[in-house]
Amino acid sequence: MKKNKKFINFVFSLYKPVKCLALVMVFSMMLSQIFDLIKQYIIKGIIDLPSNPNFQITDLYKVVGILMIVIILELIFYYISNITRTIHMVKKQTPYISEKLFNNLDKKGYPFFVDNFSGKISSSINEVNNEITDLNTRITTGFISLLTSMISSLIILYTIDFKIFITALILFGGIIVTRLIYFSKRYLPLVQKAQETSREYNGILNDAVLNFTSLKVYSAVEDFSKTLKIKKEDSNFYKNKASSREFTYGAIANVIYIITFAVLLLYSINLFGNNLMTLGNFIFFINAMISLKSSTTSFTWSYIHIGEIFVKLKNCYDLLYNEANSNDDNKNSIIINNGTIKFDNVSFKYTKSYVFQNFNLEVKEKQKIGIIGVSGSGKTTLVNLLFKFYSPQNGKILIDGKNINDYSTRSLYENLTYVPQETILLHSTIYENIKIAKPDASYEEIINAAKKAELHNFIESLDDKYNTIVGERGIKLSGGQRQRIALARIFLRNSKIVIFDEATSSLDNNTEFKIQQNIHKYFNNQTIICIAHRLSTLKDMDYIIVIDNGTIIDTGTPKAIIPKYDKVDFLSSESEDKNVHC
Ligand SMILES: Nc1ncnc2c1ncn2[C@@H]1O[C@H](COP(=O)(O)OP(=O)(O)OP(=O)(O)O)[C@@H](O)[C@H]1O
Ligand SMILES: [Mg+2]
Repeated sequence: MKKNKKFINFVFSLYKPVKCLALVMVFSMMLSQIFDLIKQYIIKGIIDLPSNPNFQITDLYKVVGILMIVIILELIFYYISNITRTIHMVKKQTPYISEKLFNNLDKKGYPFFVDNFSGKISSSINEVNNEITDLNTRITTGFISLLTSMISSLIILYTIDFKIFITALILFGGIIVTRLIYFSKRYLPLVQKAQETSREYNGILNDAVLNFTSLKVYSAVEDFSKTLKIKKEDSNFYKNKASSREFTYGAIANVIYIITFAVLLLYSINLFGNNLMTLGNFIFFINAMISLKSSTTSFTWSYIHIGEIFVKLKNCYDLLYNEANSNDDNKNSIIINNGTIKFDNVSFKYTKSYVFQNFNLEVKEKQKIGIIGVSGSGKTTLVNLLFKFYSPQNGKILIDGKNINDYSTRSLYENLTYVPQETILLHSTIYENIKIAKPDASYEEIINAAKKAELHNFIESLDDKYNTIVGERGIKLSGGQRQRIALARIFLRNSKIVIFDEATSSLDNNTEFKIQQNIHKYFNNQTIICIAHRLSTLKDMDYIIVIDNGTIIDTGTPKAIIPKYDKVDFLSSESEDKNVHC
């Protein structure tokens, strides 16, 4: 219950910047429908007017004049509602939703992005936007206008004949109530399943398109298309089942309607034949019965669609909001003056087996340490823990003697800089890609950072220079150029601790040497952790630690360590495992 309340609050929160507009949208639609009811009443009056013994043609002019005014008012309010919804609401609401949902991702921990397809996350954000726009349409043009039209038809029947009114009320009320019960019990769960499978399908499709080159070179496209086909069939299965249930119900409801309508027709013909019903009333009885039939069907469908929209919104909400948030902004901000790091008896596992058990490591202020070890030995995991991407099951990680768990992640990131093992860039310009490290950086700062990362000359050789678009994930640049963009970012920051995870692995020796020189020149006041497979990268470090299977198996100065492990191929965990121990 509390969960549902939170969800409803979430839906309301999406209307924050458009509260007044939403009211205008809803009330003008209601007014338009009320004028529609008045219009029908006037028409009924016009039909019966000539049978009045005192009828004069001027009366007809007057009534038709009023009818025209009512029609104009109905149209005006109808347009006000539609214009408010399709132009003003969309203009303000959808950008707000995109911003709000994207900002919320900041509260998610690293595992959220590891565990969910990126396509699933982005399609959820788009879905919320689409569903809310759809909800606005369904509520106004569907729910409210149909409800008002049904009530007006029933009022007309009430004024014609009480028995007809009661029968119609029971018939259409019954159809609506049973349909809605049937819908929530038998139809809605299928819609929910259909949406889950469809999102799964979108995630797989996005992932496949992102990795299309790999699928192509391994001739795996055909195989993969079969997986996609099966997923699509799964999602269609639930959709089709839901639709066939709805059609079966609709058919039964229609039979009941036809029988009841026939009986009422016979009854009203009888009344009309005995002069107990006027011609206007007789025409309006038939009109109201036909319009009630179509409006009850449309009304329940619009109710069903609104239900579907809520199911979809709830699914998105569960993914984007309900899953454990790692927002710790309420914690104190960490202030790092010295840049000492301590792993104190840390034990950590991603799933079943431990990557680290009682792991200890101390890095002093301004110390520069290198970490080597075979692939899979836990080097990147150390960075993941230091950045709070994951939390250790046991032990503490201290920076400047402060347990990082007690401080906000946001403040930690303001003090740490990291060049990751894999550089994925935004589909934007080189300039923008460097700038994300410091959004308020000046043009000169960006150029200087690019120079320090040995990137400036290359950028200048491009047709669009700093405005060159790097392509999706940076696909239009070489691995080394992408790495240098990531390196340029760290030269923009002034943090006490800098971590390099295979940051220069794709560079040629000469470029790597120059960048290493810049790192030592510009980061001489910082604590540096440098993970590398290529040992020459670490020759200027204060000391190097060797990790194997989550344990430090050796430590020493570069002079001592490099010759000792020079022959070990640190890119392979399989073949060289033995060598590390030697
Ligand atoms: N998100 C994850 N979920 C589950 N297991 C993981 C995850 N990330 C890494 N691992 C596992 O943890 C172990 C350590 O991985 P880690 O990335 O720290 O190795 P590494 O030393 O950085 O290797 P490399 O030199 O190849 O980069 C590996 O066995 C890896 O399979
Ligand atoms: Mg790694």
